[in-house]
Amino acid sequence: MAKKFILITGASGEIGENLINYFSSKGEKNIIALDINKPKNSNSIYKFYKGSILDDQLLSKINSLYVFDEIYHLAAILSTKAELNPKIAQEVNVEGSIKIFNLALCQSKQQNKKIKIFFPSSIAVYNLKNNDEKKIPISENMLCNPHTVYGQNKLYCENIGTALDYYGNENNIHIDFRCIRFPGIISANTTPSGGTSDYAPEMIKSAKQLKSYSCYVSNYCKIPFIVMPDAIDGIIKLMACNKSKLINNVYNITSFSPTVSEFHNEIILYYKNFILTYNINNQRQKIIDSWPGILNDSIANKQWGWKAKYNFKKSFSDYLFSKL
Ligand code: SER
Repeated sequence: MAKKFILITGASGEIGENLINYFSSKGEKNIIALDINKPKNSNSIYKFYKGSILDDQLLSKINSLYVFDEIYHLAAILSTKAELNPKIAQEVNVEGSIKIFNLALCQSKQQNKKIKIFFPSSIAVYNLKNNDEKKIPISENMLCNPHTVYGQNKLYCENIGTALDYYGNENNIHIDFRCIRFPGIISANTTPSGGTSDYAPEMIKSAKQLKSYSCYVSNYCKIPFIVMPDAIDGIIKLMACNKSKLINNVYNITSFSPTVSEFHNEIILYYKNFILTYNINNQRQKIIDSWPGILNDSIANKQWGWKAKYNFKKSFSDYLFSKL
């Protein structure tokens, strides 16, 4: 039987690097990674391809060389960057995703089975209109009318992936599409770039480096977050779940929803001299105001047993600041 591989696009992004670390800790050696930048942990993978997901020749070469069991399509432009570069965002986030879906369809056809593909979506698919909605736990089918380029890109790809799973393509070939709508993710060992939820990880990193931080959104701002180990755990659990248990393709997951002030108060328990100032960026503020304050992740909990292991306090004591 042919050797089976795992394809990871966006391998040098935050989730990519942490997912590779996870696989390598489990002894998984057959990872093919694609990114425009080399991942730091590239010695843990079988082969790294430096290039763009928009490069048809490269994708066709990768498709012809390997038999893939699973695909993790993580390459994307995050929300703040997407607003500033809508054309590039459309190319990478939408056209790039369609190319990877096509690669998955080729693999499904060759192997005569639905290839599993993981797609990270985001709370950016939601669009809240007022502050009262910030207090409601938002479920998957509520308020999905994004006004940001990034949110629109993500929702569109969710819908294509779901349709390719359910209806298949014109030749009746299907993929096994599994998607998580992530809240902001906070990692202890990597830094995000171009996102709007970046204020939380940036604040934490500044505190660790004994620097002050100038926050671009107001102190009352509140969106949901999880820490990276829970994000990876969610991906692994969803991908491992028996398909018969998955009634949906797209799931919310979450853990805690602190305000910026609550983040600050927690950080100064560990770094009492940490100074937080504010320099509001109206565009980023507007985006954060339109994202949920609280997510409802009960469907993921019911169907595949999702539950965050790290709450707010534990995230700081056992993960983010655990080496203090
Ligand atoms: N965390 C991402 C961002 O801020 C959203 O998924 O862009």
